[in-house]
Amino acid sequence: MFELWREDIQVVKDRDPACRSTWEVLLCYPGFRAVRSHRLAHALWQGRFRLLARWLSERSRRRTGIEIHPAAVIGRRVFIDHGSGVVIGETAEVGDDVTMYQGVTLGGTGKEKGKRHPTIRSHVMISTGAKVLGAIEVGEGAKIGAGAVVVHPVPAHATVVGIPGRVVRRHGQPVHEEEDLEHGNLPDPVQEKLAEISRDVAKLAVRLATLERRKGASNVDQSA
Ligand SMILES: CC(C)(COP(=O)(O)OP(=O)(O)OC[C@H]1O[C@@H](n2cnc3c(N)ncnc32)[C@H](O)[C@@H]1OP(=O)(O)O)[C@@H](O)C(=O)NCCC(=O)NCCS
Repeated sequence: MFELWREDIQVVKDRDPACRSTWEVLLCYPGFRAVRSHRLAHALWQGRFRLLARWLSERSRRRTGIEIHPAAVIGRRVFIDHGSGVVIGETAEVGDDVTMYQGVTLGGTGKEKGKRHPTIRSHVMISTGAKVLGAIEVGEGAKIGAGAVVVHPVPAHATVVGIPGRVVRRHGQPVHEEEDLEHGNLPDPVQEKLAEISRDVAKLAVRLATLERRKGASNVDQSA
């Protein structure tokens, strides 16, 4: 537990250039307090003290402006800067070393049941006011731009901006407009090549059959 606190303090000092001391983290960073409170609320939730867990989470929301459902899974060294208006839903999962700013929502679309909140992989940065909605995955090292509304999965190391969110950078390199967030729908070059080959094979089979028919017919003529 103390090791986690030490990490939580260090991460604020590492990621916020405005932070000058450990005391400042302890006294002035609502994100630090919210994450610390969530760890206890989450343990209570897992121990089936659900009402107590909800009460603790609600108390933390009143004090910090950050609402984290006690069932949400939050990784290590997660830094919520400023914090006001952050909402993290019940089935959200947040990996290690994630940074998020004020006004971020990890929410549901209102259309799903069960797992209905996003999974945020490690080293993701979610900028101020961004909304990530639904049971989608945001890949490792991705960046979500300020004010973006993201409703499709985000590949690792991509930058997504706008409404609806679209990928504008991958590994820091610009991405062409036609590439969108639905990578399952991108053309598959291997599949396309296989389809081309099977079309060619079918054509050859027809030609072979024709040639064999002709050869058979000429053999009959010669023997007659
Ligand atoms: C998205 C962001 C993280 C930058 O990521 P990046 O990978 O370095 O991307 P770039 O800055 O190279 O921007 C990529 C493109 O998206 C555009 N863009 C960047 N942020 C954008 C945003 N929030 N909304 C719309 N477009 C945006 C840029 O203009 C650029 O467009 P271009 O290709 O036409 O030039 C950053 O712009 C951002 O939103 N930061 C906000 C951080 C924050 O919340 N700070 C609050 C502190 S209190």
